Amino acid sequence: EKDMYGKNFLTLADFSSSEIEYLISLALTLKKKQKLGIPHEYLKGKTLGMIFEKSSTRTRVSFEVGMYQLGGHASFLSSRDLQLGRGESINDTAKVLSRYLDGVMIRTFDHQTIEEFASASSIPVINGLTNSHHPAQVLADLMTIKEYKGDLKGLKLCFIGDGNNNMTHSLIEGAALTGMNISVASPKNYEPNQSILNQAIQIATTNDCHITLTNDPEEAIDQADVVITDVWASMGQEDEQTERMEQLAPYQINQALCEKAKPNYIFLHCLPAHRGEEVTAEIIDGKHYVVFDEAENRLHAQKALLKVLLSD
Ligand code: CP
Ligand code: NVA
Repeated sequence: EKDMYGKNFLTLADFSSSEIEYLISLALTLKKKQKLGIPHEYLKGKTLGMIFEKSSTRTRVSFEVGMYQLGGHASFLSSRDLQLGRGESINDTAKVLSRYLDGVMIRTFDHQTIEEFASASSIPVINGLTNSHHPAQVLADLMTIKEYKGDLKGLKLCFIGDGNNNMTHSLIEGAALTGMNISVASPKNYEPNQSILNQAIQIATTNDCHITLTNDPEEAIDQADVVITDVWASMGQEDEQTERMEQLAPYQINQALCEKAKPNYIFLHCLPAHRGEEVTAEIIDGKHYVVFDEAENRLHAQKALLKVLLSD
């Protein structure tokens, strides 16, 4: 058993390849247990706080249900109701919540906020999405790819769309850690963050896989096993909507583009999706889609995460 007890989960790159592999296999085991009705209450008496500064359907419900199924409890904390929303410092909030809770999940804007929270808190902090990372989602994505494709090593992923968002960054890290090649196609000025990229390239080098950036979606999707995209305007970018729609229009995932992927490719999207924008209905509702398995797997992947971080 891997010792990850007490660690934070802020980005995937904070974890080793073997830790990520362990989490994926534990997630698959917990999924089986859940389906067979085998009790797995590893977190009896433990409480997770969940701070949301942005909207959520999947993250909120899957963490809450996950804690319940593990025998623990989850407490939903909207930043509108917390004193945090009225100006109490991150530092004081983190110190106080550390006295009540066994772990805290946070969805916020700047990644720096969650880092500050984590350094002031004495309990594990889990990233439920920041502007630059969405590691819990990608853990579920890796699990989903494993279910459909088996061994991850050597597979080709492509991400087409906004290369500078949380999903892209976590996918780049997740691919590098598991030995998958990833090709990212995005317009100029929508490329991934350079320092996140540099760190991931180092990981990829040790795992013998490649990260490729291009402005050409056809090049990125060529012979891909897994095709992925995300919304063009993320939460907090609503005022850039028009500009982004224009810039990203050539990066839509549609049937013509998907002809270039491997015939048995799978299509992933973290949801919520905008049919007719980043992906056509034909693709997201078509025979290659696995987006609802992907959404379900949030539950199982996060239960694995909660078990290893919160149970000693
Ligand atoms: N994919 C995802 O994180 O969805 P929510 O915003 O609904 O939590
Ligand atoms: N990139 C999207 C993901 C939503 C789950 C956003 O940040 O809004």
